Amino acid sequence: MRVDASADRFLQIDHIERALANPRLREEWLADPQTLVVGGGSNILFVTERIGKVVGIKAADHGFVDEGETILAFAEAGLGLDDWVRLTTAQGLYGLERLAEIPGTVGAAPIQNVGAYGMQLCDVLDSVELWDRQKQVLLHWTAEQCQLSYRNSRFKSEPNRWLVLRVWVRLHKKPPADWPNFSYPGLADEADAYLMTKKSPMSALAASDMAEIVTRVRRKKLPDWRQLLPGSLGSFFHNPIVSLQHANKLKANWPDVPLYALDDPDSVKLSAGWLIEQAGWRGRIFGAAGVYDRHALVLINRGGADGKEILQLAEAIEADVWRHFAVQIKTEPMIV
Ligand code: EPU
Repeated sequence: MRVDASADRFLQIDHIERALANPRLREEWLADPQTLVVGGGSNILFVTERIGKVVGIKAADHGFVDEGETILAFAEAGLGLDDWVRLTTAQGLYGLERLAEIPGTVGAAPIQNVGAYGMQLCDVLDSVELWDRQKQVLLHWTAEQCQLSYRNSRFKSEPNRWLVLRVWVRLHKKPPADWPNFSYPGLADEADAYLMTKKSPMSALAASDMAEIVTRVRRKKLPDWRQLLPGSLGSFFHNPIVSLQHANKLKANWPDVPLYALDDPDSVKLSAGWLIEQAGWRGRIFGAAGVYDRHALVLINRGGADGKEILQLAEAIEADVWRHFAVQIKTEPMIV
C-alpha cells in the first residue's frame, strides 16, 4: 500500500534449515508472538509506523519430483509467487497459470488461499511445510489440514503461530479436460486479441499463454504493483455472502445486481466492487487516498497517505454500503 512503516529489528532468513537450527532465532524471534512475519508485504496495511521485530524469508529454492503424468513442484517461502508461475508455465506445466501477476511470495499464498480467474491455490495445493512457532517443531501438513477456503485458512485463523517454509503443488504435464477454460468474464475476449497478435491458433494455447492472458486482464483492472504509485493491496474487501432471501430483496430493487451461486443453495455471493461502485465510491478521492477509478474494490494510496487515512476511507465505504444495501463488507488485508 506504500505507507511508511519501519521495524526496530529485521531478520532475514536466507537458509531455512540453518536458521531453524539456531536456538536464539527459534526462541527470541520466532516463539515471540509479537514478532511479525512478512512475505512480500503486499497484503498488509500498516496502521502503526513502528514495529518491534520483523522476520522475512528470502530463501527461494524451487524444484520438482516427476511422478509420471503429474509433477510435484515445491518452492521455498521467499520465492515470488509470480516468479513461480512463470517458471512452471515456461516448463509447459499446467496448474498455476491463473495465479500470474499476483504480487507477494509463495510463503504468503496459502495464508489467504490466493485465487484469481476461476482458480484458487487450494485447487493445486498438495502440502505445506511449516514451523510451529509455539511448539517449536517442523510440520508437513497435507492440503486438507491447512483448511483452505475462500480467502481463508487455518493459518489465518491462528495468527502468529505458523511460519510457512515450503509449498508443494501438483501440476500436470497435459492440459486439463476443460482446457482452455475462459468462463471467467473478460478472459475470452483477451484471449482472442492475444492469439490474433501472436498469430497462433487456440488449439496451440499453452499454460504460459494463459498466464499472459490473465496478466493482461489484471493490468487493465488493477494498479501495477511493480510501480511505486498508486499504492494498493488488490481487493480491499471480501466479496460478501448473504442469504438467498436478502439477495432476492436486492434483486427486486437493483435488477442488475450480480449474484453468484454457491454450493449452499440458501446463500449467495455478491460483488463487493459492484456494491461500492453503486454506492458512488468508484474513482472518489479521499485526501491522499482514494478508490481506484478502474475497480471500486481497490483502495489506493495516491502518495503520502498513511494507514489510518486508508482505514478511515475503508470504514466510510463499509458504512455507506451498509446504509444502501444492508450488506456488511469485511476488510480482506492483514491490518497491523
Ligand atoms: N464490479 C463492478 N464495479 C467495479 C468492480 C467490479 O461493478 O468497479 C463488478 C462487476 O460486475 C464484475 C464483478 O464485480 O463483473 C467482479 O469483478 P472482478 O472480476 O474484478 O472480480 P472481484 O470479485 O472484484 C475477485 C478477487 C480478485 C481477483 C478477481 C479475479 C476477491 C476479494 N477479489 O475480485 O482478487 O483478482 O476476483 O478472479 O475475491 C485480491 O484478492 O487482491 C484480488 C485482486
